[in-house]
Amino acid sequence: MITLGIEGTAHTLGVGIVDSDCKVYANEIDMFKPPTGGLHPREVANHHADVVARVISEALDKAGMTPKDIDLVSFSMGPGLGPCLRIAATAARALSGYLKVPIVGVNHCIAHIEIGRAQTGCTDPALLYASGGNTQVIAYSEGRYRIFGETQDIGIGNMLDKLGRDLGMGFYAGPVFEKLAKEGDKYYELPYSVKGMDVAFSGLMTAALALHKKGVRLEDIALSVQETAYAMLTEVTERAMAHIGKDEVLLGGGVVQNMRLREMVADMAHERGAEMFVPDRRFCMDNGAMIAWLGSEMYSSGVRMDVSDTAVMQRFRTDEVEVTWRS
Ligand code: ATP
Ligand code: FE2
Repeated sequence: MITLGIEGTAHTLGVGIVDSDCKVYANEIDMFKPPTGGLHPREVANHHADVVARVISEALDKAGMTPKDIDLVSFSMGPGLGPCLRIAATAARALSGYLKVPIVGVNHCIAHIEIGRAQTGCTDPALLYASGGNTQVIAYSEGRYRIFGETQDIGIGNMLDKLGRDLGMGFYAGPVFEKLAKEGDKYYELPYSVKGMDVAFSGLMTAALALHKKGVRLEDIALSVQETAYAMLTEVTERAMAHIGKDEVLLGGGVVQNMRLREMVADMAHERGAEMFVPDRRFCMDNGAMIAWLGSEMYSSGVRMDVSDTAVMQRFRTDEVEVTWRS
């Protein structure tokens, strides 16, 4: 069975094509880059509407397939920005109707876990999902993927991007922080906010801006922000692993491209006798292959959706989905 999946929760419009063994035939993305920084949902949606037909064609070309090779269409039903979600959903409904093949809407966060499991070979991990909009520790328990810890204010990536903009680093600041931090040599203490398995970043942002106003070098601010924020993520991941007894940790989301974060989580895992798994960069970022793969798993386990079941859900919670494809 060949599944074509369309991702469109945030700035990336992605189209992936996979088979029932999670062999990936295509995984094309087109990412909206805002001219001034900050994402305006309607502008991103216009971008997605402009590119979606072309990205679908490119994915088919890449796979060496024609539309009639597609047996199932899936799309990201949420969580995400409403106008963007609706573009991906509309494209998926149109394609499924035109090809007369079934349609399945999937949860974006669960798609990150499932592609990670398939691509890295881990079986029952705790997932640290650290992206722009999301920061969660998720694990499977009693038929659901449950959120054990999460951010109480903004996602780690959005925090880095917003702080970076205020510090004059430009948009998409995560990689800039990483580069600058390598040149930093002095650590300044910043608010470390962990409550149980939850984290919060607003205090850290305010304090980092205050350091900037005092004339502290950007390199040292970057070092301090990274050390503090990633230690918080590592601590809550460890606590979740201990709490639910998991000895695998899987990383997902754009921020886990950060080598310092990986190093901290790897050290933690090593000390616990656990193992860390990191999917390839193209599967960590938002992408269509993960949407296609989760759609394929759900459909194979018997999930069926009518077009009337495919309304998008901006606040689609990870634990709303009954996990039918794992025993
Ligand atoms: P979501 O998955 O919540 O919809 P998104 O689409 O914004 O979020 P991704 O594409 O997964 O997220 O990741 C983008 C984020 O990753 C940005 O905030 C960016 O700054 C951050 N990022 C990318 N590379 C790095 C890096 N090397 N270090 C830290 N952060 C990074
Ligand atoms: Fe994502």
